[in-house]
Amino acid sequence: MSGMRDEVEQTLLTQEQIQKRVTELGRILSEEYAGKNPVLVSVLKGAFIFLADLCRSADIPCSVDFMIVSSYGAGTETSGKVKIIKDLDTVIQGRHVIVIEDIVDSGVTLSHILAMLKARNPASLRLMTLLDKPARRRAHVDVDWTGFQVPDAFLVGYGLDYAEKYRNLPDICILKPEVYQA
Ligand code: IMP
Ligand code: MG
Repeated sequence: MSGMRDEVEQTLLTQEQIQKRVTELGRILSEEYAGKNPVLVSVLKGAFIFLADLCRSADIPCSVDFMIVSSYGAGTETSGKVKIIKDLDTVIQGRHVIVIEDIVDSGVTLSHILAMLKARNPASLRLMTLLDKPARRRAHVDVDWTGFQVPDAFLVGYGLDYAEKYRNLPDICILKPEVYQA
């Protein structure tokens, strides 16, 4: 692990802190969605680890589905444009949908996705994000449940990447700026 750890400035959230919060969030879903068979919709790739842990903490029947959109590419700033690369397989009309995000940053990507999903007339549509970086918001998004509010720093680990690297770090860490300010 030393290669990845060397490029990290500090650990913001340890795997123990994350796991404890994810268990609480799973319990919230179990209570709110008992008997509703919700669809957990995740935007790849950043949320894949959060979703995997979250759905195992939710003690109710549910299904999962994935979308792929492009926003950041290899940089750290959102382009403001959202392109759907892979749409859902599930018909969500009449279903209870929970969008599961890794991080809400500018909110630009997410506001597009939420508007698009809403137009498909789900029974309900809510948003759960592990991380929220409110300092950077540019588009309004209603966040229903947040794991942690985080400072305005570029984060990696627990699914979050920089140029596809660091997703497998078990903790959430602040990346050294010199890594992306080449
Ligand atoms: P937004 O449209 O600016 O809210 O961007 C959302 C997406 O950008 C997230 O789902 C992440 O994939 C990515 N992102 C935003 N902030 C970070 C970060 O600090 N580290 C890694 N990825 C990030
Ligand atoms: Mg990303």
